Amino acid sequence: MSDRYAVIGNPIGHSKSPMIHRAFAAQTGQDLEYTAIEASIGGFAAAVTGFRAQGGRGLNITAPFKLDAFAYATKLLERARLAGATNAMLFVGDEVEADNFDGVGLLRDLEQNHGILLRGKRVLLLGAGGAARGALQPFLEARPAELVIVNRTVAKANALGEEFAPYGAVITTDYDTLAAERPGRYDVVVNATSASLRGELPPVPKSVFGKTSFVYELAYGKGLTPFLHLARDAGVERGCDGVGMLVEQAAEAFAWWRGVRPDTRSMIEQLTVPLLSPSAVRH
Ligand code: ATR
Repeated sequence: MSDRYAVIGNPIGHSKSPMIHRAFAAQTGQDLEYTAIEASIGGFAAAVTGFRAQGGRGLNITAPFKLDAFAYATKLLERARLAGATNAMLFVGDEVEADNFDGVGLLRDLEQNHGILLRGKRVLLLGAGGAARGALQPFLEARPAELVIVNRTVAKANALGEEFAPYGAVITTDYDTLAAERPGRYDVVVNATSASLRGELPPVPKSVFGKTSFVYELAYGKGLTPFLHLARDAGVERGCDGVGMLVEQAAEAFAWWRGVRPDTRSMIEQLTVPLLSPSAVRH
């Protein structure tokens, strides 16, 4: 019997993970089965225990269960502990190991696929929720010249800044203060708020963008979100949505489970929709 893996969430019908992992398995010659599980709200633990009882080897976890998975794990790896959430699990005997590849997937996409090295750059991160939290450690380890977090609720940004201080300096601010800064100050602007999921625009002033800024929208499959629209109106020519991050975090989980890292390029190309200017979207 093939080794069994799945993605678990609610809803789950939209998930691209089965398609991505099956393609990775075909590419690397791994014999595995990958399905999608829709657990009921409140039914995460029972669904995972059932999957393990049927021989399941590992899971990807998507909304709204990333915190349930954190609680279910018996062994939290450092990235999951720091992110306060987990998006991948590996079952080893009675042990439930949990990791989080969202942040490292984002960094890999920025640096390796788009050629945007954070070292020495001025980086602005919008949001202080789970998505921003997951990005902080990998971003700080990439040694930007400056990492600024802006959030509507500044106290949440401040708390994150304090918590991650051991990994590097984090500056926290509010949206009004950004408007008073020198225009075009940021090399990289990352939207890690959940605003785009509802078609909303975070109150980020247009002046944060310069012509040479790179913008990263964590949401994917939403087309030109209000955030990307604003960046384009500000003259930004280079940017992307989170499809590369989705594929890279999947590749990290696959490598963890199977010991072989799939090539991500063709899958990203297959899923990428040009957003800003076609020639500038991907190298
Ligand atoms: P996620 O796990 O997707 O990060 P979350 O933990 O609920 O979701 O966090 C959502 C983030 O998006 C928060 O930083 C939130 O700002 P607040 O902390 O001030 O609530 C931010 N956010 C959501 N909608 C927003 C909007 N319309 N404008 C600005 N920020 C928004």
